[in-house]
Amino acid sequence: MMSSFPEVAPLDSLACWRSFAQAAQNTPVNPQRLCVLKAGGLLVDTSAQRASPELAQATEALLQARQFETWREHLLTGQVVNLTENRAAWHSALRVPAPSQQVAGERERMLDFVRLADAERKWRNVVHIGIGGSDWGVRLCIAAFGYAGTWRNVRFVSNIDGHAIEGGLAGLDPHETLVVVSSKSFTTSETMQNAHRALEWLKGAGIQNPYNHVVAITANAQAAREWGALPSQTFLFWEWVGGRFSIWSSVALTTALAVGIDTLAGMQAGAHAMDQHFATAPVAENAPVQLAVSGVVNRSVLGYGSLNIAPYDFRLGYLVPYLQQLEMESLGKSVDLNGNAVNVPTGPAVWGMPGTDAQHTFFQWLHQGSDGAPVDFIVCQEANHGWREAHHTHLLANCLAQRQAMLTGKSYEQALQECRAEGHAEEHAQWLAKHRMHTGGRSSNLIVLPRLSPYTLGALLALYEHKVFTQAVIWGINPFDQWGVEYGKVLAKGITQELKGQAPLNGGHDASTRYWVEVFRG
Ligand code: F6P
Repeated sequence: MMSSFPEVAPLDSLACWRSFAQAAQNTPVNPQRLCVLKAGGLLVDTSAQRASPELAQATEALLQARQFETWREHLLTGQVVNLTENRAAWHSALRVPAPSQQVAGERERMLDFVRLADAERKWRNVVHIGIGGSDWGVRLCIAAFGYAGTWRNVRFVSNIDGHAIEGGLAGLDPHETLVVVSSKSFTTSETMQNAHRALEWLKGAGIQNPYNHVVAITANAQAAREWGALPSQTFLFWEWVGGRFSIWSSVALTTALAVGIDTLAGMQAGAHAMDQHFATAPVAENAPVQLAVSGVVNRSVLGYGSLNIAPYDFRLGYLVPYLQQLEMESLGKSVDLNGNAVNVPTGPAVWGMPGTDAQHTFFQWLHQGSDGAPVDFIVCQEANHGWREAHHTHLLANCLAQRQAMLTGKSYEQALQECRAEGHAEEHAQWLAKHRMHTGGRSSNLIVLPRLSPYTLGALLALYEHKVFTQAVIWGINPFDQWGVEYGKVLAKGITQELKGQAPLNGGHDASTRYWVEVFRG
């Protein structure tokens, strides 16, 4: 293994792992337990997770065996933690109050661009082209803070599907439109194809120098320059910022154009507060660590295959895909740092939808389905609108009620009483009660933001980043690469050439792929 870290022992060979697993199995969720952690301005209620002195002791031993403190220090001080790509993952350096000259200088250039555009009331339309980490964070922030509308009309184009760019540009006046091309690598095929199409659209409108209408955001200055982007409108970030962590970088330019430059400073401050909490809070009070530990219990000991994210906030809809990328691209690994198969299940599938819509979509499955899934409920104590009684109280009540139903359940006896009280004949009541009972004991977290602000959203995103990192340390995997996605990209490139007739049919295809390549290339 390339680093100063010792070998990563297979988890089930560790006595502390076996104690951890046993303690978790022996500890049911206790509805009378109350545990609310304070972290970076958020309240993280982990009451509905398994906890016991034995589990806490085994957790400490497990973290020690995995050299958690050393890994955390390496993460937060910019040392190489992405071993397969020999890189740091130093997104935390983008949110310290006094960043390096390199970071501060690039940020100022980017903010100056936004300030000037605002002062001149320029760029009525912004088309943000990017995918994955170059897209989700920006969508999330703009939906969160621009939900009531913004004076700039912002469109997002990520998909290679031509309907996406067609719809993204439709009806806009090119003369009033800024195209933001956001790509760390500046080679992602979806983004480059869409950027090319947007450029053609600008040219087609007779705009003399279409690049004046283009901003490039990238870690690959050379590729952006070769593509034609103006250096004065190219804003950089660096290899040590992973794509799924890049909302803290120049990638946030579109956010600033849409919802104001102060948003970025607020998010950075909140994330930094969470970084400090993660760096210093003892394990038992450390919210990211505690979320990580219960996540490992749920996934690797109890076998839950997924984690449901339930933001009880209409503005946080994009939190779901944002966290899907963060969690699943980071933890969708089954080989440890030594190159051996991890012998316990790792990262869960992440899915969800804002409540209360989710209640009317899939919550039945969470309440009474045969598999179930742990749920992260996320809610703001205060709304930003003025209808507390008529709306927000109902939202809060729904959030608490769903969580309680999953935790405490409803016994057969309770259900039977209910059925009898409704006047059903005894035999019918006994039959009906079996359908109405809930087993309960389903674990969840409740994350409470005082209200949604740049600060609290920043803290929330950093909370999940550090949770994911801690889980990777426990599982002994690299959360910062994504070789599976890279392999798919390479295959897609080859098949594209075959479909265009620029390459012969690849003899290595499976039978079905070969069949469809032949059909599609006509
Ligand atoms: O989905 C794979 C991925 O490499 C992500 O990690 C990244 O956020 C996305 O593609 C986009 O990459 P880029 O910013 O280089 O265009």
